Amino acid sequence: APHSVADIGVTGMAVMGSNLARNLARNGFKVAIHNRSVEKTERVIAEHGQDGEFVPAETMDEFVASLQKPRVAIIMVKAGKATDAVIEELATRMDEGDIIVDCGNALFSDTLRREQELRARGLHFVGSGVSGGGEGALNGPSIMPGGSKASYDRLGPMFEKISAHVDGVPCCTHVGENGAGHFVKMVHNGIEYADMQVIAEAYDLMSKALGMSAPEIGKVFEKWNEGNLNSFLIEITAAVLNHTDNVTGKPFVDIILDQAGQKGTGAWTSKTALDLGIPVTGIAEATFARSTSGGTEQREAGRAVLKGEAQTIQIDDAAQFISDLQQALYAAKLVSYSQGFDEIKAGAKEYEWDIKLGDMARIWRGGCIIRAGFLNRITEAYERNPELPLLLADEYFTAEITKCIPAWRRIVAFAAAVGIPAPVFSSTLAYYDAVRAERLPAALVQAQRDYFGAHTYRRVDAEGTYHVEWTGDR
Ligand code: NAP
Ligand code: ATR
Repeated sequence: APHSVADIGVTGMAVMGSNLARNLARNGFKVAIHNRSVEKTERVIAEHGQDGEFVPAETMDEFVASLQKPRVAIIMVKAGKATDAVIEELATRMDEGDIIVDCGNALFSDTLRREQELRARGLHFVGSGVSGGGEGALNGPSIMPGGSKASYDRLGPMFEKISAHVDGVPCCTHVGENGAGHFVKMVHNGIEYADMQVIAEAYDLMSKALGMSAPEIGKVFEKWNEGNLNSFLIEITAAVLNHTDNVTGKPFVDIILDQAGQKGTGAWTSKTALDLGIPVTGIAEATFARSTSGGTEQREAGRAVLKGEAQTIQIDDAAQFISDLQQALYAAKLVSYSQGFDEIKAGAKEYEWDIKLGDMARIWRGGCIIRAGFLNRITEAYERNPELPLLLADEYFTAEITKCIPAWRRIVAFAAAVGIPAPVFSSTLAYYDAVRAERLPAALVQAQRDYFGAHTYRRVDAEGTYHVEWTGDR
């Protein structure tokens, strides 16, 4: 490969890396490309060489040498050990001021560690979230880069150009220092889990309580997609439900084994939230729901003996029930987002990132899996008040969620009575009722803690901490 000619390089030519490289080339950048095994690089040139100017490199030496200084090399390989190995191969060949960008799905704490190590060696390390799957990488993803301001000056204009655009505005911004980009990507994925699960719960209720077929339910989602639920996930849900299995002729969803997989980002979001002390009940319940579905042993044992003692409730007005579901879905979704933004805020405080919450909603409007019409409203809420303590307390969202309450309660009560699990519908409603409660039973928990562990308590009527000598009370 010729020396110092490429604007940027991408190593890792699997689905994501090759599509990202093609996107860069199509946008006029000269892109060096590299892969551990050369065939993948050759295939990109053979099949997509006409997309733009590529500089194929067979070796890491060639790859690094082909980059203009300060060099920018994007890593798009398997997260974990592979990423560490590739970082090291690049770093040993790079010079002070060069920039290594990890666009894989790294855990933000790995990014924190890597950034610190590379900074000590005079290199910039950018951990960047990229969402939108292979399609997004090729045609415009949502990009969430962390790292230093200086690295963003070099990298940002290229990323903004290749990202999705909504109303002419790029779905990419400098998220914050070091691990901020991967943190925000992690929470994005957590919210994605909650969205997917609550959509699945709505489907389940229509299927089991109303006896609707998959294509009938698909029509409902198509209609919902025209209202306040308008989003990519609702759209693909309709498409999935309308899809027929070509082996059996049955609705496709009905022939899929009911065990959801997971690669871990929902669990990361939930674990991190536990560490930060932030309730993300929608996300955590969605993650646990996947685990419950995959717990074959427990499900077999439960199916055999647990009868549920559920009521049979005849639904007289199916249209009303579906309208209730739509409102409940919207309300549960608002809670999940409110909780997710709380986690980003807490993460930013803990790790000293200057994250503009409204900008995060803005860069999620296009390209990514949770892209949705209502994200504009979140941006507006944080514009009205950047210090907003609770997204649901913004005037717009308060009004929106208030309209949904009666329907939401009817759905949760119905699901409980007839024995259809609705963990995200119900846990988000419980959170809503807790966060607005005048008084919580946490007072009793504090008393219990003081009783057995002398953990002390505070009083409603005086400053200070207190403890009761409980011996003799029992
Ligand atoms: P992938 O299957 O995660 O990774 C395959 C790539 O990693 C290949 O280029 C492979 O090279 C390389 N690789 C693996 N181990 C290596 C090692 N020890 N040294 C050097 N290279 C190594 O590919 P992907 O699906 O395109 O995803 C890439 C990254 O993007 C991942 O971190 C993933 O989590 C993230 N991501 C994926 C999606 C998605 O929708 N799939 C969306 C967003 C982000 P060889 O060809 O030589 O084996
Ligand atoms: P997106 O934001 O576009 O959804 P993503 O987070 O990589 O990008 O998720 C896309 C798909 O790749 C998901 O199915 C995800 O699995 P989870 O649903 O369990 O999160 C999967 N995925 C994510 N990281 C992966 C990895 N390291 N290896 C393989 N698959 C992965």
